[in-house]
Amino acid sequence: MSGFDTRWLDLRERADHAARDGALLRAAAAYLAAGGEAPLAVDLGSGTGSTLRAFGSLAEAARWRLVDNDPRLLEAAASRLSGFGAVERVEADLTRLSASEIEGARLVTASALFDLASRSFVEELAALLAERRVALYAALNYDGAMRWDPPLPADDEVVAAFNRHQTGDKGFGPALGYGATEALREAFARQGFEVRLARSPWRLGPGDEALHALFLEGVVAAVAETGAVEPARLADWAARRRAAGPFCEVGHWDVLALPR
Ligand SMILES: C[S@@+](CC[C@H](N)C(=O)[O-])C[C@H]1O[C@@H](n2cnc3c(N)ncnc32)[C@H](O)[C@@H]1O
Repeated sequence: MSGFDTRWLDLRERADHAARDGALLRAAAAYLAAGGEAPLAVDLGSGTGSTLRAFGSLAEAARWRLVDNDPRLLEAAASRLSGFGAVERVEADLTRLSASEIEGARLVTASALFDLASRSFVEELAALLAERRVALYAALNYDGAMRWDPPLPADDEVVAAFNRHQTGDKGFGPALGYGATEALREAFARQGFEVRLARSPWRLGPGDEALHALFLEGVVAAVAETGAVEPARLADWAARRRAAGPFCEVGHWDVLALPR
């Protein structure tokens, strides 16, 4: 299992949905809808089904398959997707990606997944999708940029350590971290896809205090593991950041790769 909990995924969903690039989302939905009656979309690393909820009414004409290695999240998806008709839920470990998970799909989707994945996973997936002429819509790939308002002197040091931690092994081998978007662009372009990119930054502000607090906890835990920032300095930074409020921008990109 992956260790992502429903509280974190539920809390981030509003910011995630606000951040997604609308034009790319609509283009992905239009591509899916052009696939005849009840085309299949497969969401990799689905968690509780946030991508499906982001499609909203655009998802209705399609069949969906959610794939995740965490049975608790797939279980939680059921109650969170009651309005969406039949949704297949498949427990599978993507580090051993097989064609069966994506068989029959017209569109593969993912969100906040590829920064955990490795370059070889992305290349394998691009080859599998190219052979089958399946499109990819990959939203919310972290790009390494975090900016708070007001800034603090230690921000850059903490973000640099966090970004190093992001490239550690998350089950797939060395993770792409903030390099995920570029790896997706390269691998899918090499396989002949038309690749479109759009920014999808989180812009946190009033009302995002709980999300920001949990996000800070995650940043601090990751940075502490690196040992790159002295513990007292890190604790001081976190206390000041909490006190300064949730005003921050966290960079992400959305990627749409369409077969030509
Ligand atoms: C950051 S969460 C994103 C969840 C969801 N896509 C969303 O946007 O809310 C990453 C998801 O990838 C899943 N995941 C991580 N490693 C995986 C693996 N090896 N096989 C399948 N799923 C995996 C986790 O269980 C988690 O649901």
